[in-house]
Amino acid sequence: MRTRHARHALGRPAAQVRTGRAVLRFFVGDCLELLSQLPAGSVSAVVTSPPYNLGVRYRSYHDSLPRERYLAWTSRWVQLVARVLEPKGSLFLNVGSKPKDPWIALDVAAVARTHLRLQNTIHWVKSVAIDREAAGRAARLDRDLALGHYKPINSDRFLNDCHEFVFHFTPGGDTPLDRLAIGVPYQDASNIGRWRGAAGGLRCRGNTWFIPYDTIQSRVRERPHPATFPPRLAEFCLRLHGAARLRLVLDPFLGLGSTALAAAALGVDFVGIDVDSEYVKEAAARVSARLPAGELSGASARPAGPPAASPPRRSRRSGRSAPQAAPRLPLD
Ligand SMILES: C[S@@+](CC[C@H](N)C(=O)[O-])C[C@H]1O[C@@H](n2cnc3c(N)ncnc32)[C@H](O)[C@@H]1O
Repeated sequence: MRTRHARHALGRPAAQVRTGRAVLRFFVGDCLELLSQLPAGSVSAVVTSPPYNLGVRYRSYHDSLPRERYLAWTSRWVQLVARVLEPKGSLFLNVGSKPKDPWIALDVAAVARTHLRLQNTIHWVKSVAIDREAAGRAARLDRDLALGHYKPINSDRFLNDCHEFVFHFTPGGDTPLDRLAIGVPYQDASNIGRWRGAAGGLRCRGNTWFIPYDTIQSRVRERPHPATFPPRLAEFCLRLHGAARLRLVLDPFLGLGSTALAAAALGVDFVGIDVDSEYVKEAAARVSARLPAGELSGASARPAGPPAASPPRRSRRSGRSAPQAAPRLPLD
């Protein structure tokens, strides 16, 4: 019922995509204004990545507030998200940092802590090196591996930054999770049955998730935004929350719609908000393009293509229980 209310609370979206019974709605605006219009307790899960205040060149948003103002703004939007979350809802809050500002992610988490409980800390690993010797013989590697992508840092004091945080905040610290929805197979068959929860030969993945970016040929054409996360990251979060319990998914900082793509893959209602109309248009078009029978209204159905204005210059960063009706789409 609340979800139905939520469908109408925000007025007319800039674009809307339908898939099966799910409706994905895309709004242009300031999330502070739109979040206050959503009914309390109407959102099952939020997967989002706010601007990090690191001077990233977005199309229209200026990403360099004085620190105190940025943290006060963070407190405001997290408070609004806390209000709209279901009592057993989840906020998956992705924040990265940079070597010269290593505290920003933790500062954001400390502010979020004043409104919600930190239930899990997930490390999104973009790149990893695995030495053959450390992997052991059972891994059957024939060489050392270096996987994924990162933005190299030319420095004699800083390491390349190959990870970002995903803080899992919840209203009470007791949101039940579907850990095996993103479980990994036991390497050693003798462990199956020995451990509680080893059903289906899967174990909990843990809190280090290796999710590389897709390799692209042209940022302007294929990923016209300076700071996206891979849709697969959002899909992991939503599956972990429990796809069967998802009624409405929200991303107040939509960008190119990575969370929207994950919600579409799982066949759940979605609301996305961004201040930039071009990002919103692009996000809706991306979702529509991925759906076999997606129906887009309110924005051009153009698949990923060049943005209307000059492209951003640099990059900041570099199942179990899906609802039956949902089409399974390949993400990433
Ligand atoms: C880190 S990006 C999100 C990227 C997204 N996760 C993706 O994968 O495409 C942050 C986004 O927040 C938007 N933004 C900044 N301030 C906003 C506000 N007050 N309300 C809504 N969106 C805002 C920016 O335009 C930017 O697209």
